[in-house]
Amino acid sequence: MTRIIDFKDGIQKWELKEIKKSFTSGKIVIFPTETVYGIGANALDKTAVDNIFVVKGRAQTNPLIVHIANMEMLKELVLKPNRIEQKLIDAFMPGPFTLILKKRKNVIPDNVTCGLDTVGIRFPEDEIARTIIEFTDLPIAAPSANISSRPSGTIIKDIKDEFDGKVDIIIDGGKTKIGIESTVCKVIDGIPTILRPGKITPKDIEDVIGCVDIDKHVFKSVKDSEQVESPGVKFRHYAPNTKCILVYGKKRQDYIDLINEHKEEKTTIIGFSEHKKFFPDCIYHELGKRNDLDEIAKNIFTLLRKADKDNSDIIIIEGVQKKGLGIAIMNRLLRSCSFNYYEK
Ligand code: TXA
Ligand code: MG
Repeated sequence: MTRIIDFKDGIQKWELKEIKKSFTSGKIVIFPTETVYGIGANALDKTAVDNIFVVKGRAQTNPLIVHIANMEMLKELVLKPNRIEQKLIDAFMPGPFTLILKKRKNVIPDNVTCGLDTVGIRFPEDEIARTIIEFTDLPIAAPSANISSRPSGTIIKDIKDEFDGKVDIIIDGGKTKIGIESTVCKVIDGIPTILRPGKITPKDIEDVIGCVDIDKHVFKSVKDSEQVESPGVKFRHYAPNTKCILVYGKKRQDYIDLINEHKEEKTTIIGFSEHKKFFPDCIYHELGKRNDLDEIAKNIFTLLRKADKDNSDIIIIEGVQKKGLGIAIMNRLLRSCSFNYYEK
């Protein structure tokens, strides 16, 4: 049976003790972070980590990231960061940021990192996440809390739909603040390279280091045979079961024409609040106001799940400009549509 612990109104000491007990005895706990919920276990416990892969249905070749709550933990897990890595740590940790660093030998079991000699380290700033990791005093391996290929969990209802009865504890911290996962970054040949975009934007990194690169797979699908920096880009992601089309860079009339092309079908639209009035005959889920990228990021994953439940023939999604946080939003939307998009 899964225990649901409500942390929305503060954290109780005896509940923290239960969570610690759960982690130390190899069980799985779902907890909120500022980005999305994580499905976590003691990163030093090989069997517990194996269980995360099973419960999530995750490929054995897609490594997990490890969550910490202080810099001592970081030192125990990885080799000394170089100058650029240290600058990134100082600037963005704690925060919605994951840095790929060289593993120390014989600390983190190989199944966490799928045999790689590097590990993704994430120091969340969310108070609940920090408190439980600090109190447990263990590094916590945690991918996003969703069945593999599905949109990441950002509200407790979506989490319960997938994991109630399958994990030991679910901690309810309300809707997550950012809504999309952390920026994953690796310093390659001295250049911070974004493997997965997030709330920390390329410009944020460039402002600190003076240069930044974006991995070519951020906006591109990957062939099976291709070598990639981040194994995660190889897998189907964030996808509803219903067929989706992403439209962007279009004028309003183009949207209307596109949707009219589908008028024989039952259509759901996930679009800007301003455009709802133009589509009275469709089921319409509001992403947020066109220029409010923070709001749009917060709503994406839960709306993709909601839209799926409309049982429409097609979901049409409005895209945003690939700038700032828009880069991360479009990275997720392109994948949820399996790169099925219209662009002008
Ligand atoms: O915001 C987040 O990052 C959330 C919360 C729970 O912290 N976690 C998350 O984990 O999104 P996950 O496993 O869903 O995504 C981690 C990504 C995957 O794409 C994985 O392939 C990549 O990081 N990754 C993990 N270890 C890596 C490594 N050593 N080298 C390159 N990429 C790595
Ligand atoms: Mg994920």
